[in-house]
Amino acid sequence: MKIRPENTDDIQAIHHINTQAFGRVKEAELADALRACGAAVLSLVAEEKEEIVGHALFSPVRIETGAEEARGLGLGPIAVLPEYQRQGIGSALMETGLAMCREAGHPFVVLVGHASYYPRFGFERASHYGLRMPFEVPDEAFMVIALQPGALENIQGVVHFHPAFDEVE
Ligand SMILES: CC(C)(COP(=O)(O)OP(=O)(O)OC[C@H]1O[C@@H](n2cnc3c(N)ncnc32)[C@H](O)[C@@H]1OP(=O)(O)O)[C@@H](O)C(=O)NCCC(=O)NCCS
Repeated sequence: MKIRPENTDDIQAIHHINTQAFGRVKEAELADALRACGAAVLSLVAEEKEEIVGHALFSPVRIETGAEEARGLGLGPIAVLPEYQRQGIGSALMETGLAMCREAGHPFVVLVGHASYYPRFGFERASHYGLRMPFEVPDEAFMVIALQPGALENIQGVVHFHPAFDEVE
């Protein structure tokens, strides 16, 4: 299994994976919308025997800290084809994705997701760092990881994902 950045030949397969994994089209459309407006900072695919079976996308977020704005990345969507789940593909996408984001110098990654899945990759409750979403989300589902030392110091405030996320319920 290989993790690599998406290319244009993968776009249909990525749409299919998100639709199948989430059981609806919203996240697939979100990935398309983020890509279309140049917000797919890092879009990775998992390739197994020349078939694309997993996908993860990182896009820019900003934090209104009061005086200034801090910028980092948000993760989502991330999806693995149902018949390939629980084989470590999601973990490989996470680990490679975070390593590439760290390498590129991005300070932190936030996400809203399954509270029992992401802590294994180092994610912690974002509220512990004084981060909030502009709307109500379960506290344990809103998570952050620092990719650079000290990246979460002095950036308390409201996290804004890319406007394309507003379309996804
Ligand atoms: C979440 C997802 C990307 C994980 O991919 P994966 O390849 O199955 O993950 P891995 O094989 O690396 O890890 C499997 C672990 O993920 C956990 N997991 C999978 N789905 C989960 C869920 N909905 N909630 C909590 N944990 C979940 C499994 O319990 C398993 O944990 P274990 O190792 O302790 O048994 C995949 O299950 C998926 O596409 N789900 C549907 C779409 C989705 O919910 N995306 C994430 C939105 S936050």
